[in-house]
Amino acid sequence: MINTLQTKEQPLNIKGLSLLTLEELSETEIYQLVDSALTLKKQQKSGLTSKTLEGKTLAMIFEKPSTRTRVSFEAGMIQLGGSALYLNGNDLQLGRGESIADTAKVLSQYVDAIMIRTFAHEKIVELAKQASIPIINGLTDEHHPCQALADLVTIYEVKKKLKGLKLVYLGDGNNVSHSLMIAAAKVGMNCTIACPVGYEPKKQIIELVNDIGSKTGAEIKVTNNPFEAVTDADILYTDVWASMGQESEQEKRITVFEDFQVNSKITYLAKSDFRFLHCLPAHREEEVTAEIIDGPHSVVFQQAGNRLHVQKALLQAILG
Ligand code: CP
Ligand code: NVA
Repeated sequence: MINTLQTKEQPLNIKGLSLLTLEELSETEIYQLVDSALTLKKQQKSGLTSKTLEGKTLAMIFEKPSTRTRVSFEAGMIQLGGSALYLNGNDLQLGRGESIADTAKVLSQYVDAIMIRTFAHEKIVELAKQASIPIINGLTDEHHPCQALADLVTIYEVKKKLKGLKLVYLGDGNNVSHSLMIAAAKVGMNCTIACPVGYEPKKQIIELVNDIGSKTGAEIKVTNNPFEAVTDADILYTDVWASMGQESEQEKRITVFEDFQVNSKITYLAKSDFRFLHCLPAHREEEVTAEIIDGPHSVVFQQAGNRLHVQKALLQAILG
């Protein structure tokens, strides 16, 4: 057990839980999920399988494209003995105006859980309210909790701890940055977000993580100075400058975010053993240079791989 909380070992008990933002999980539950992901990963590498989700079905609704989320959830369900249904939002009646409430009530009759990737976060909140089965956020405009859980697994693997590390995110104050801040605050990891003026994380999220951090000891900072932010970082993280749905702003953002690129002119300020993370997909020579993302500090593919393991841990805990 990696749990360093000095709490008594207790079984993870989140059966039936919906995961929309990460706020739903306690510090202990997050550590337990990381621990379970590492166990499942080890088992898989040694050829062991456990069909803990036999007979269970996950519906996966996608209103935006995906490689990692789609394949890791589908493969994860199959590996655990269950099945997954890929549903393109436009092919559902939802895409023709059927209400979220009706969709939630109908799908609740057929499957055991729904994973959804959508735009407005309010949509998933409404889905969770109307459904009688667990809902998992596969990314909204505001949050990407499954990504942040995989990020914690990866950071733990490379640093052997979470608490007290300095995580620095350079770039857009977007969905990925929000979930990362919540994850860091929950586990007591210090987190600095550096972004251009006007592209900071949402005020409400900053307030939330400061509140969580005051209890766990995590120091959360938001700054417009990338050089100050990166100094002594253990982990550097970035994401695309224009997220899905912001394609029309792509050109403008390339200029606005110029100083926030992760490159060797800035990484020398980080600790010499810093690790680089990116949720992917990446745009080389925009938010990160090829030298860094394809270089010795990068763990982005290990990170992408951990989506599978932590989501299996999550599915097993929610549905098992
Ligand atoms: N990181 C991530 O969620 O990737 P996909 O968009 O490919 O699912
Ligand atoms: N911020 C990115 C993350 C992609 C996984 C987006 O929303 O497009």
